[in-house]
Amino acid sequence: MAEFLILLYSILMTKVFSGIRPSGKLHLGNYLGAIKNWIELQDKAEQAIFAVVDLHGITTPYDPAAYKQQVMDVILDYLAAGIDPDKSLLIRQSKIPQHTELAWIFNTITPVSWLERLPNYREKVEQVEQSGDKNAKSYQNNLSILAYPVLMAADILLYKSNLVPVGEDQLLHLNLTNEVGAKFNHVFGEVFPNVKTHLATGARIMSLQDPTKKMSKTGDDGIALSDEPDIIRAKFKKATTDSGKEVKFDQENKAGISNLLTIYSLLAKKEMRDIEKEYEGKNYGDFKSDLAEVTVNFLKPFQQKREEYQKDMSQVEAILENSEEKARHLAEQTMKEVREKMGI
Ligand code: TYM
Repeated sequence: MAEFLILLYSILMTKVFSGIRPSGKLHLGNYLGAIKNWIELQDKAEQAIFAVVDLHGITTPYDPAAYKQQVMDVILDYLAAGIDPDKSLLIRQSKIPQHTELAWIFNTITPVSWLERLPNYREKVEQVEQSGDKNAKSYQNNLSILAYPVLMAADILLYKSNLVPVGEDQLLHLNLTNEVGAKFNHVFGEVFPNVKTHLATGARIMSLQDPTKKMSKTGDDGIALSDEPDIIRAKFKKATTDSGKEVKFDQENKAGISNLLTIYSLLAKKEMRDIEKEYEGKNYGDFKSDLAEVTVNFLKPFQQKREEYQKDMSQVEAILENSEEKARHLAEQTMKEVREKMGI
């Protein structure tokens, strides 16, 4: 009984935060690695906040003229995927100025060496160099790329969140969040909780072209949530598989087909074993075209719901403004504590 009560208490006291950069169309990796879990968690958590992290998105080359629309596109994706504004706050990061205030404060206690050792940092520098963007030179190795995880720590800790549902690529950032929070508590006094990462089975969906790389928003290798049925069919048809024939999960030797099996199993909610059995004696072509139909059918209601929201943008604006006002209030409560502890 006591254990049950502790479990119940810890679920009820959960404060969830997560976010996505608006730097391209959301894809199946973002959905399976992150958003799918958000929807499950929003029903149980005491507090759930989902952000479009537009201040993170400006750390790499972007188009200012298209940016507002890109941000709203992600908000529409959140709503269409099932984020419920009655249960969760949906926010644009830049509308809550306390994110940057706390990030600056965290900068004052974060050694540069903690940031330089992160592989995501080096990856980003390389990505910008190779992007071919006309502004790539202006963004090469800027301070904000290095300081990116500090802002991320601020996003999470500003709301005293203690559970962050993300894909596998964010794990080291979450470790850093805990290091920064613990250091603040040590130097100035207890304010921030320890943060747990919530990882999903789809925590790492790979590129369809190169299954050794993760599916990403910037390449054309992913299935966007907004892709038309024929585009989805064409993308799966072209997806890289190995030279074998068997539809079998074998991460090491059959990375391509294993990735496709993972997507199939998560979207169709079927056990891997059952799918393998179903495709005994059949070839990759059969499997890929069925997977395309599974995906098309899965995305149909999502795309319809998205269109409905899109027709009523004033309702979407109202949802955002209401959420952002509540978020600013929560953020200010934490900041008051922080400023007081720091003597500012
Ligand atoms: P971002 O925008 O790159 O990705 C958003 C979320 O999608 C997950 N994801 C994937 N999951 C599985 N397979 C993939 N191929 C795949 N690609 C992306 C990511 O793990 C992430 O959960 N730094 C973050 C944004 C951020 C944030 C935060 C997240 C800023 N502040 C605070 C959580 C809490 C990022 O760039 O995610």
